Amino acid sequence: MRTITMSAFGRHWPSAPPSPVLAAREVHIWRARLELSDGQLGRLTRVLSADETARARRYVFARDRDIFIARRAVLRMLLGRYLAVPPEGLVFRYGPHGKPALQQSRYGQPIEFNLSYSHGLALFAFSADGPVGIDVEYRRPVPTMEDIARHFFSRCEYAEIASAAPNLRQTIFFNAWTRKEAFLKATGEGLTGLEGVEVSCLPGEAARLFKTGTDPSTHSPWVLREIHPAAGFTAALAYRGALTKIQRWTWSDAYRASGPRATQATSPTAVKPKYSSMGSFLLRRFCTVT
Ligand SMILES: CC(C)(COP(=O)(O)OP(=O)(O)OC[C@H]1O[C@@H](n2cnc3c(N)ncnc32)[C@H](O)[C@@H]1OP(=O)(O)O)[C@@H](O)C(=O)NCCC(=O)NCCS
Repeated sequence: MRTITMSAFGRHWPSAPPSPVLAAREVHIWRARLELSDGQLGRLTRVLSADETARARRYVFARDRDIFIARRAVLRMLLGRYLAVPPEGLVFRYGPHGKPALQQSRYGQPIEFNLSYSHGLALFAFSADGPVGIDVEYRRPVPTMEDIARHFFSRCEYAEIASAAPNLRQTIFFNAWTRKEAFLKATGEGLTGLEGVEVSCLPGEAARLFKTGTDPSTHSPWVLREIHPAAGFTAALAYRGALTKIQRWTWSDAYRASGPRATQATSPTAVKPKYSSMGSFLLRRFCTVT
């Protein structure tokens, strides 16, 4: 598994209180390094459900399997803290395009959440009241950047990339990619709606949503924010509502150890995830490094 160095990870995202509480119109973003030891992974596996364990077994490469186990387990542990329930007791259901959701709530309505992973780093977003979407990408060379932009970005976004100085193109590309994907993950559409969404993408320009595609349910107020989780990464958050605060936390194994003990996984109702990693697929197909 590739590693992010401590210096790249930075220190300005503190450790959270043991039982974090989500206020209205607030989003909590957690970052976690997922290059874990075998012992840590073994402990984490115990909180997965039977269908998640089965999905983990279907990964061809051990690295992909371990990352899936780690991000699912961390997601469960964080949801468990917010909802004050054992992580292994949570039951996910899946939207038509694979977005995981929960029925359990502590805030009068189901907690909203989303996660993203790239190059050893996972980001998790939580909200008590509005749908959230998050995307993180490690900035790497993308030789077919213009082809991707021509096919999957709006005409304006493509023009911004094509007309930019060569040293700015990668920044513009990843700004656009993460902002569009964060929005489409918040709505649950996934990358099927990529071409219909238009965002700001120039360096230094605040993250903004210009077009939201054709689904009328997406025409209510949306907020896009650029997130800086670690050196070398571009990330974005999308949230529907009047966002008042973003709280940033770091998940660590020490934080896990400070929480309630994970028990042996029960087997909650198996729900088969309808999942297709189109983002990874597209980027794997077009990029040199993923
Ligand atoms: C969602 C999607 C954009 C993720 O792209 P990615 O860059 O590979 O992955 P990320 O690391 O950013 O996010 C992955 C996480 O997003 C979440 N997710 C999955 N589908 C999602 C969706 N439709 N909307 C929001 N979040 C979703 C999951 O938690 C997933 O983590 P998991 O693998 O542990 O389950 C991409 O897989 C996609 O477009 N999926 C929809 C495919 C589709 O339409 N399928 C229906 C026909 S089968």
